[in-house]
Amino acid sequence: MEARRILLIATSGIAAYKVPDLVRQLQRAGHEVRCALTPTASRFVSRLALQTLTGATVRQDLFDPSEEGEIDHIRLADWAELVIVAPATANTLAGMAHGLAENLVGAVLLATEAPVLAAPAMNVNMWNHPATQANLETLRGRGVRFVGPGVGELACGWEGQGRMSDPSEIVAEAGLLLGSQSLAGETVLVTAGGTAEPIDAVRTITNRSSGKMGFALAEEAARRGARVCLVAGLTALETPAGVKRLDVESALEMRNAVMQELPDATIVIKAAAVADFRPEFPEEAKIKKESLDSQEGITLKLVTNPDILAEVCAQKGDRTVVGFAAESGDVVPAALRKLERKGCDLLVANDISRDDAGFNVDTNAVYLLSRGGEVEEVPLLSKHEVARQILDRVEKMRSERSR
Ligand code: C5P
Repeated sequence: MEARRILLIATSGIAAYKVPDLVRQLQRAGHEVRCALTPTASRFVSRLALQTLTGATVRQDLFDPSEEGEIDHIRLADWAELVIVAPATANTLAGMAHGLAENLVGAVLLATEAPVLAAPAMNVNMWNHPATQANLETLRGRGVRFVGPGVGELACGWEGQGRMSDPSEIVAEAGLLLGSQSLAGETVLVTAGGTAEPIDAVRTITNRSSGKMGFALAEEAARRGARVCLVAGLTALETPAGVKRLDVESALEMRNAVMQELPDATIVIKAAAVADFRPEFPEEAKIKKESLDSQEGITLKLVTNPDILAEVCAQKGDRTVVGFAAESGDVVPAALRKLERKGCDLLVANDISRDDAGFNVDTNAVYLLSRGGEVEEVPLLSKHEVARQILDRVEKMRSERSR
Protein backbone atom coordinates (compact mmCIF):
# COMPACT_ATOMS: atom_id res chain seq x y z
CA MET A 1 0.00 0.00 0.00
CA GLU A 2 1.02 3.56 -0.71
CA ALA A 3 2.65 5.36 2.29
CA ARG A 4 0.13 7.36 4.29
CA ARG A 5 0.44 9.83 7.18
CA ILE A 6 -0.89 8.40 10.42
CA LEU A 7 -1.22 10.25 13.71
CA LEU A 8 -1.16 7.75 16.56
CA ILE A 9 -2.68 9.07 19.78
CA ALA A 10 -2.00 7.11 22.97
CA THR A 11 -4.07 7.72 26.09
CA SER A 12 -3.31 6.69 29.65
CA GLY A 13 -4.18 3.04 29.87
CA ILE A 14 -1.86 0.18 30.72
CA ALA A 15 -2.21 -1.12 27.13
CA ALA A 16 -0.11 1.92 26.07
CA TYR A 17 2.94 -0.28 26.64
CA LYS A 18 2.08 -1.87 23.25
CA VAL A 19 2.24 1.47 21.42
CA PRO A 20 5.94 1.33 20.37
CA ASP A 21 5.22 -2.05 18.78
CA LEU A 22 2.19 -0.55 17.00
CA VAL A 23 4.38 2.30 15.69
CA ARG A 24 6.89 -0.22 14.32
CA GLN A 25 4.18 -2.31 12.66
CA LEU A 26 2.60 0.76 11.02
CA GLN A 27 6.02 1.81 9.76
CA ARG A 28 6.68 -1.68 8.45
CA ALA A 29 3.40 -1.44 6.53
CA GLY A 30 4.97 1.60 4.84
CA HIS A 31 3.30 4.46 6.73
CA GLU A 32 4.72 7.65 8.17
CA VAL A 33 3.79 7.86 11.85
CA ARG A 34 3.69 10.72 14.36
CA CYS A 35 2.56 10.36 17.95
CA ALA A 36 0.61 12.47 20.41
CA LEU A 37 -0.19 11.69 24.03
CA THR A 38 -2.79 12.72 26.58
CA PRO A 39 -1.25 14.53 29.59
CA THR A 40 -0.78 11.38 31.69
CA ALA A 41 -0.19 8.79 28.94
CA SER A 42 3.58 9.18 29.29
CA ARG A 43 3.29 7.40 32.64
CA PHE A 44 2.59 4.23 30.64
CA VAL A 45 4.71 4.74 27.52
CA SER A 46 7.97 6.58 27.13
CA ARG A 47 7.77 9.79 25.16
CA LEU A 48 11.44 9.47 24.31
CA ALA A 49 10.92 5.97 22.94
CA LEU A 50 8.15 7.19 20.61
CA GLN A 51 10.20 10.19 19.56
CA THR A 52 13.16 7.93 18.75
CA LEU A 53 11.01 5.52 16.75
CA THR A 54 9.17 8.19 14.76
CA GLY A 55 11.97 10.73 14.46
CA ALA A 56 9.46 13.49 15.25
CA THR A 57 8.40 15.52 18.27
CA VAL A 58 5.76 13.73 20.31
CA ARG A 59 3.10 16.31 21.04
CA GLN A 60 1.49 16.30 24.50
CA ASP A 61 1.04 19.83 25.84
CA LEU A 62 -1.37 22.15 24.05
CA PHE A 63 0.09 25.22 25.77
CA ASP A 64 3.83 24.49 25.49
CA PRO A 65 5.32 27.22 23.25
CA SER A 66 8.25 25.11 22.01
CA GLU A 67 6.03 22.13 21.14
CA GLU A 68 3.46 24.39 19.44
CA GLY A 69 6.32 26.08 17.60
CA GLU A 70 7.50 22.78 16.06
CA ILE A 71 4.10 21.69 14.78
CA ASP A 72 1.00 23.39 16.08
CA HIS A 73 -2.04 21.30 16.89
CA ILE A 74 -4.06 22.41 13.86
CA ARG A 75 -1.22 21.62 11.47
CA LEU A 76 -0.89 18.22 13.14
CA ALA A 77 -4.65 17.61 12.72
CA ASP A 78 -4.42 18.63 9.04
CA TRP A 79 -1.27 16.56 8.45
CA ALA A 80 -2.95 13.28 9.39
CA GLU A 81 -4.64 11.15 6.74
CA LEU A 82 -5.77 8.80 9.51
CA VAL A 83 -5.91 9.26 13.27
CA ILE A 84 -5.60 6.17 15.45
CA VAL A 85 -6.46 6.38 19.15
CA ALA A 86 -4.82 3.38 20.82
CA PRO A 87 -5.36 2.63 23.58
CA ALA A 88 -8.58 4.64 23.83
CA THR A 89 -9.61 4.92 27.48
CA ALA A 90 -13.20 5.36 28.66
CA ASN A 91 -12.27 8.91 29.64
CA THR A 92 -10.92 9.86 26.21
CA LEU A 93 -13.93 8.27 24.48
CA ALA A 94 -16.22 10.32 26.75
CA GLY A 95 -14.25 13.47 25.91
CA MET A 96 -14.51 12.69 22.18
CA ALA A 97 -18.26 12.05 22.43
CA HIS A 98 -18.70 15.44 24.09
CA GLY A 99 -16.26 17.32 21.91
CA LEU A 100 -13.95 18.33 24.78
CA ALA A 101 -10.81 20.18 23.73
CA GLU A 102 -9.21 20.66 27.15
CA ASN A 103 -5.95 19.03 26.09
CA LEU A 104 -3.94 18.63 22.90
CA VAL A 105 -5.50 15.30 21.95
CA GLY A 106 -9.07 16.60 22.35
CA ALA A 107 -8.29 19.66 20.24
CA VAL A 108 -6.66 17.60 17.48
CA LEU A 109 -9.59 15.16 17.41
CA LEU A 110 -12.02 18.06 16.99
CA ALA A 111 -9.93 19.77 14.34
CA THR A 112 -9.05 16.82 12.14
CA GLU A 113 -11.02 15.94 9.03
CA ALA A 114 -9.27 12.58 8.75
CA PRO A 115 -11.07 9.33 9.59
CA VAL A 116 -10.60 8.24 13.20
CA LEU A 117 -9.98 4.65 14.29
CA ALA A 118 -10.16 3.91 18.03
CA ALA A 119 -8.90 0.80 19.82
CA PRO A 120 -10.60 0.89 23.22
CA ALA A 121 -8.97 -0.70 26.27
CA MET A 122 -10.40 -0.69 29.77
CA ASN A 123 -11.84 -2.75 32.61
CA VAL A 124 -14.82 -4.89 31.52
CA ASN A 125 -17.27 -3.07 33.81
CA MET A 126 -16.12 0.31 32.54
CA TRP A 127 -16.63 -0.99 28.99
CA ASN A 128 -20.12 -2.32 29.74
CA HIS A 129 -21.20 0.81 31.63
CA PRO A 130 -24.19 2.49 29.94
CA ALA A 131 -22.28 5.79 29.87
CA THR A 132 -19.44 4.23 27.85
CA GLN A 133 -21.85 2.38 25.59
CA ALA A 134 -23.84 5.57 24.93
CA ASN A 135 -20.60 7.41 24.07
CA LEU A 136 -19.64 4.63 21.64
CA GLU A 137 -23.03 4.84 19.95
CA THR A 138 -22.62 8.62 19.58
CA LEU A 139 -19.15 8.24 18.13
CA ARG A 140 -20.19 5.45 15.75
CA GLY A 141 -22.99 7.69 14.51
CA ARG A 142 -20.38 10.32 13.70
CA GLY A 143 -18.31 7.86 11.70
CA VAL A 144 -15.60 6.92 14.24
CA ARG A 145 -14.48 3.33 13.55
CA PHE A 146 -13.63 0.89 16.30
CA VAL A 147 -11.38 -2.11 16.47
CA GLY A 148 -11.89 -4.36 19.50
CA PRO A 149 -11.73 -4.50 22.43
CA GLY A 150 -11.04 -8.21 22.65
CA VAL A 151 -12.17 -10.60 25.37
CA GLY A 152 -9.72 -12.16 27.82
CA GLU A 153 -7.65 -11.63 30.92
CA LEU A 154 -7.38 -7.94 31.73
CA ALA A 155 -4.49 -6.17 33.43
CA CYS A 156 -6.82 -5.20 36.29
CA GLY A 157 -7.37 -8.88 37.16
CA TRP A 158 -10.87 -9.15 35.70
CA GLU A 159 -11.78 -11.37 32.75
CA GLY A 160 -13.99 -10.11 29.95
CA GLN A 161 -14.19 -7.63 27.13
CA GLY A 162 -11.69 -4.79 27.44
CA ARG A 163 -8.34 -5.89 26.00
CA MET A 164 -6.88 -3.61 23.38
CA SER A 165 -6.73 -5.39 20.01
CA ASP A 166 -3.32 -6.68 18.96
CA PRO A 167 -1.22 -4.15 17.06
CA SER A 168 -1.46 -6.40 13.97
CA GLU A 169 -5.29 -6.17 14.02
CA ILE A 170 -5.13 -2.39 14.40
CA VAL A 171 -2.73 -2.16 11.44
CA ALA A 172 -5.06 -4.35 9.34
CA GLU A 173 -8.09 -2.20 10.19
CA ALA A 174 -6.09 0.96 9.41
CA GLY A 175 -5.23 -0.56 6.02
CA LEU A 176 -8.92 -1.09 5.28
CA LEU A 177 -9.76 2.45 6.30
CA LEU A 178 -7.00 3.89 4.16
CA GLY A 179 -8.19 1.83 1.22
CA SER A 180 -10.74 2.96 -1.29
CA GLN A 181 -12.98 5.77 -0.05
CA SER A 182 -15.11 5.47 -3.15
CA LEU A 183 -18.39 6.29 -1.35
CA ALA A 184 -17.05 9.36 0.49
CA GLY A 185 -19.69 12.09 0.40
CA GLU A 186 -22.59 9.62 -0.02
CA THR A 187 -25.17 8.89 2.64
CA VAL A 188 -26.41 5.32 2.48
CA LEU A 189 -29.64 4.22 4.11
CA VAL A 190 -29.87 0.44 4.55
CA THR A 191 -32.72 -1.63 5.95
CA ALA A 192 -32.02 -5.13 7.23
CA GLY A 193 -33.60 -8.02 9.08
CA GLY A 194 -37.19 -9.13 9.38
CA THR A 195 -40.07 -7.19 10.84
CA ALA A 196 -42.30 -8.46 13.64
CA GLU A 197 -46.00 -7.62 13.44
CA PRO A 198 -47.74 -7.63 16.81
CA ILE A 199 -50.68 -9.96 17.43
CA ASP A 200 -50.87 -9.04 21.11
CA ALA A 201 -48.52 -7.86 23.87
CA VAL A 202 -46.24 -10.88 23.53
CA ARG A 203 -46.87 -12.55 20.18
CA THR A 204 -45.78 -11.46 16.73
CA ILE A 205 -45.80 -12.62 13.12
CA THR A 206 -42.27 -12.60 11.74
CA ASN A 207 -40.00 -14.35 9.24
CA ARG A 208 -36.64 -16.11 8.99
CA SER A 209 -34.50 -13.20 7.84
CA SER A 210 -31.18 -12.95 9.75
CA GLY A 211 -30.24 -9.45 8.57
CA LYS A 212 -26.79 -10.69 7.44
CA MET A 213 -27.01 -9.36 3.85
CA GLY A 214 -28.11 -5.87 4.94
CA PHE A 215 -25.50 -5.70 7.73
CA ALA A 216 -22.76 -6.73 5.26
CA LEU A 217 -23.91 -3.94 2.93
CA ALA A 218 -23.89 -1.36 5.75
CA GLU A 219 -20.40 -2.45 6.83
CA GLU A 220 -18.98 -2.32 3.31
CA ALA A 221 -20.56 1.07 2.59
CA ALA A 222 -19.00 2.47 5.80
CA ARG A 223 -15.62 1.00 4.81
CA ARG A 224 -15.88 2.86 1.52
CA GLY A 225 -16.28 6.14 3.37
CA ALA A 226 -20.07 6.64 3.23
CA ARG A 227 -22.16 7.89 6.12
CA VAL A 228 -24.40 4.94 6.84
CA CYS A 229 -27.73 4.69 8.61
CA LEU A 230 -28.91 1.13 9.23
CA VAL A 231 -32.58 0.61 10.05
CA ALA A 232 -32.55 -2.81 11.68
CA GLY A 233 -35.52 -5.05 12.24
CA LEU A 234 -35.24 -8.29 14.19
CA THR A 235 -31.64 -9.50 14.18
CA ALA A 236 -29.01 -10.70 16.61
CA LEU A 237 -26.15 -9.00 14.74
CA GLU A 238 -23.76 -6.39 16.11
CA THR A 239 -23.66 -2.90 14.66
CA PRO A 240 -20.85 -2.64 12.08
CA ALA A 241 -18.11 -0.08 12.72
CA GLY A 242 -18.93 3.49 11.80
CA VAL A 243 -22.64 2.84 11.26
CA LYS A 244 -25.58 4.66 12.86
CA ARG A 245 -28.24 2.12 13.81
CA LEU A 246 -31.97 2.59 14.39
CA ASP A 247 -33.78 -0.44 15.79
CA VAL A 248 -37.38 -1.06 14.78
CA GLU A 249 -39.82 -3.95 15.08
CA SER A 250 -42.88 -3.60 12.90
CA ALA A 251 -43.16 -2.61 9.24
CA LEU A 252 -44.91 0.60 10.28
CA GLU A 253 -41.99 1.51 12.57
CA MET A 254 -39.56 0.68 9.77
CA ARG A 255 -41.48 2.90 7.37
CA ASN A 256 -41.36 5.82 9.81
CA ALA A 257 -37.61 5.43 10.41
CA VAL A 258 -36.91 5.20 6.67
CA MET A 259 -39.02 8.26 5.88
CA GLN A 260 -37.33 10.22 8.66
CA GLU A 261 -33.85 9.38 7.30
CA LEU A 262 -34.72 9.59 3.60
CA PRO A 263 -34.09 13.34 3.07
CA ASP A 264 -30.37 12.88 3.88
CA ALA A 265 -29.91 9.67 1.88
CA THR A 266 -28.30 9.57 -1.56
CA ILE A 267 -28.38 5.77 -1.82
CA VAL A 268 -31.14 3.57 -0.37
CA ILE A 269 -30.75 -0.19 -0.06
CA LYS A 270 -33.81 -2.09 1.10
CA ALA A 271 -32.50 -5.48 2.17
CA ALA A 272 -35.07 -5.93 4.96
CA ALA A 273 -37.66 -8.70 4.80
CA VAL A 274 -40.71 -6.57 5.49
CA ALA A 275 -43.90 -8.41 6.45
CA ASP A 276 -46.48 -7.79 3.75
CA PHE A 277 -49.38 -8.08 6.22
CA ARG A 278 -50.04 -7.22 9.86
CA PRO A 279 -52.88 -8.08 12.24
CA GLU A 280 -55.47 -5.33 11.87
CA PHE A 281 -56.18 -4.87 15.57
CA PRO A 282 -53.32 -6.08 17.79
CA GLU A 283 -54.45 -6.66 21.40
CA GLU A 284 -52.71 -4.44 23.95
CA ALA A 285 -52.70 -7.22 26.56
CA LYS A 286 -51.81 -10.88 26.13
CA ILE A 287 -54.67 -12.90 24.63
CA LYS A 288 -55.50 -15.54 27.26
CA LYS A 289 -56.05 -19.06 26.06
CA GLU A 290 -58.91 -19.50 28.57
CA SER A 291 -60.73 -16.52 27.08
CA LEU A 292 -61.00 -18.32 23.73
CA ASP A 293 -63.25 -21.12 22.70
CA SER A 294 -60.54 -23.71 22.09
CA GLN A 295 -62.68 -25.61 19.59
CA GLU A 296 -63.18 -22.51 17.48
CA GLY A 297 -59.51 -21.41 17.47
CA ILE A 298 -58.78 -17.84 16.59
CA THR A 299 -59.16 -15.83 13.41
CA LEU A 300 -56.76 -12.97 12.77
CA LYS A 301 -57.64 -10.38 10.19
CA LEU A 302 -54.51 -9.24 8.39
CA VAL A 303 -54.24 -5.95 6.56
CA THR A 304 -51.64 -4.93 3.99
CA ASN A 305 -48.53 -3.09 5.17
CA PRO A 306 -47.30 -0.04 3.29
CA ASP A 307 -44.73 -0.92 0.61
CA ILE A 308 -41.76 1.11 1.86
CA LEU A 309 -39.64 0.48 -1.21
CA ALA A 310 -42.38 1.66 -3.57
CA GLU A 311 -42.94 4.74 -1.41
CA VAL A 312 -39.21 5.56 -1.47
CA CYS A 313 -39.13 5.07 -5.26
CA ALA A 314 -42.09 7.42 -5.68
CA GLN A 315 -39.88 10.22 -4.29
CA LYS A 316 -36.56 8.97 -5.64
CA GLY A 317 -35.13 12.22 -7.03
CA ASP A 318 -31.38 11.78 -7.67
CA ARG A 319 -31.12 8.86 -5.28
CA THR A 320 -30.07 5.39 -6.32
CA VAL A 321 -32.52 2.88 -4.88
CA VAL A 322 -31.80 -0.83 -4.57
CA GLY A 323 -34.50 -3.40 -3.77
CA PHE A 324 -34.30 -7.07 -2.94
CA ALA A 325 -36.51 -9.89 -4.12
CA ALA A 326 -36.72 -13.30 -2.52
CA GLU A 327 -38.12 -15.58 -5.22
CA SER A 328 -38.53 -19.29 -5.61
CA GLY A 329 -38.70 -20.95 -9.00
CA ASP A 330 -38.69 -18.68 -12.00
CA VAL A 331 -36.44 -16.07 -10.39
CA VAL A 332 -35.47 -13.72 -13.23
CA PRO A 333 -38.85 -13.10 -14.91
CA ALA A 334 -40.55 -12.62 -11.53
CA ALA A 335 -37.79 -10.26 -10.41
CA LEU A 336 -37.97 -8.24 -13.64
CA ARG A 337 -41.68 -7.71 -13.05
CA LYS A 338 -40.93 -6.62 -9.49
CA LEU A 339 -38.29 -4.15 -10.68
CA GLU A 340 -40.87 -2.55 -12.97
CA ARG A 341 -43.58 -2.52 -10.32
CA LYS A 342 -41.45 -1.03 -7.56
CA GLY A 343 -39.56 1.45 -9.75
CA CYS A 344 -36.09 0.95 -8.21
CA ASP A 345 -32.77 1.30 -10.08
CA LEU A 346 -31.36 -2.09 -9.17
CA LEU A 347 -33.03 -5.24 -7.92
CA VAL A 348 -31.07 -7.99 -6.19
CA ALA A 349 -32.93 -11.25 -6.65
CA ASN A 350 -32.18 -14.47 -4.84
CA ASP A 351 -33.59 -17.95 -5.15
CA ILE A 352 -34.79 -18.87 -1.69
CA SER A 353 -35.43 -22.46 -2.70
CA ARG A 354 -31.63 -23.08 -2.57
CA ASP A 355 -30.19 -24.17 0.82
CA ASP A 356 -26.96 -22.20 0.42
CA ALA A 357 -28.45 -18.82 -0.51
CA GLY A 358 -30.96 -16.32 0.81
CA PHE A 359 -32.35 -16.43 4.33
CA ASN A 360 -30.24 -17.12 7.40
CA VAL A 361 -27.05 -18.42 5.75
CA ASP A 362 -23.64 -16.77 5.32
CA THR A 363 -23.54 -17.13 1.54
CA ASN A 364 -25.69 -15.83 -1.24
CA ALA A 365 -26.10 -16.29 -4.99
CA VAL A 366 -28.00 -13.51 -6.67
CA TYR A 367 -28.99 -11.89 -9.92
CA LEU A 368 -28.49 -8.15 -10.31
CA LEU A 369 -31.22 -6.69 -12.47
CA SER A 370 -31.11 -3.12 -13.62
CA ARG A 371 -33.62 -0.93 -15.37
CA GLY A 372 -33.30 -1.48 -19.05
CA GLY A 373 -33.46 -5.23 -18.51
CA GLU A 374 -29.76 -5.97 -17.92
CA VAL A 375 -29.31 -9.19 -15.89
CA GLU A 376 -26.02 -10.18 -14.22
CA GLU A 377 -25.62 -13.47 -12.40
CA VAL A 378 -23.44 -13.36 -9.27
CA PRO A 379 -22.33 -16.88 -8.27
CA LEU A 380 -22.42 -18.29 -4.73
CA LEU A 381 -20.20 -16.05 -2.57
CA SER A 382 -20.00 -14.85 1.02
CA LYS A 383 -22.57 -12.17 1.80
CA HIS A 384 -19.65 -9.76 2.30
CA GLU A 385 -18.42 -10.41 -1.23
CA VAL A 386 -21.95 -10.08 -2.61
CA ALA A 387 -22.20 -6.74 -0.76
CA ARG A 388 -19.00 -5.57 -2.50
CA GLN A 389 -20.40 -6.51 -5.91
CA ILE A 390 -23.70 -4.74 -5.24
CA LEU A 391 -21.91 -1.57 -4.12
CA ASP A 392 -19.51 -1.74 -7.10
CA ARG A 393 -22.58 -1.79 -9.32
CA VAL A 394 -24.22 1.12 -7.44
CA GLU A 395 -21.02 3.17 -7.76
CA LYS A 396 -20.86 2.45 -11.50
CA MET A 397 -24.49 3.47 -11.97
CA ARG A 398 -23.92 6.72 -10.09
CA SER A 399 -20.77 7.62 -11.96
CA GLU A 400 -22.45 6.89 -15.33
CA ARG A 401 -25.37 9.03 -14.36
CA SER A 402 -23.23 12.00 -13.29
CA ARG A 403 -21.32 11.94 -16.58
O1 C5P B 1 -42.78 -7.19 -2.68
P1 C5P B 1 -41.63 -7.91 -2.06
O2 C5P B 1 -41.77 -8.09 -0.57
O3 C5P B 1 -41.23 -9.19 -2.72
O4 C5P B 1 -40.39 -6.91 -2.33
C1 C5P B 1 -39.18 -7.02 -1.69
C2 C5P B 1 -38.51 -5.69 -1.64
O5 C5P B 1 -39.43 -4.69 -1.23
C3 C5P B 1 -37.40 -5.64 -0.59
O6 C5P B 1 -36.43 -4.70 -1.02
C4 C5P B 1 -38.15 -5.17 0.65
O7 C5P B 1 -37.26 -4.55 1.58
C5 C5P B 1 -39.15 -4.20 0.08
N1 C5P B 1 -40.42 -4.12 0.79
C6 C5P B 1 -40.79 -2.94 1.40
N2 C5P B 1 -41.99 -2.84 2.04
C7 C5P B 1 -42.84 -3.86 2.08
C8 C5P B 1 -42.50 -5.08 1.45
C9 C5P B 1 -41.27 -5.18 0.82
O8 C5P B 1 -40.01 -1.99 1.37
N3 C5P B 1 -44.00 -3.74 2.70
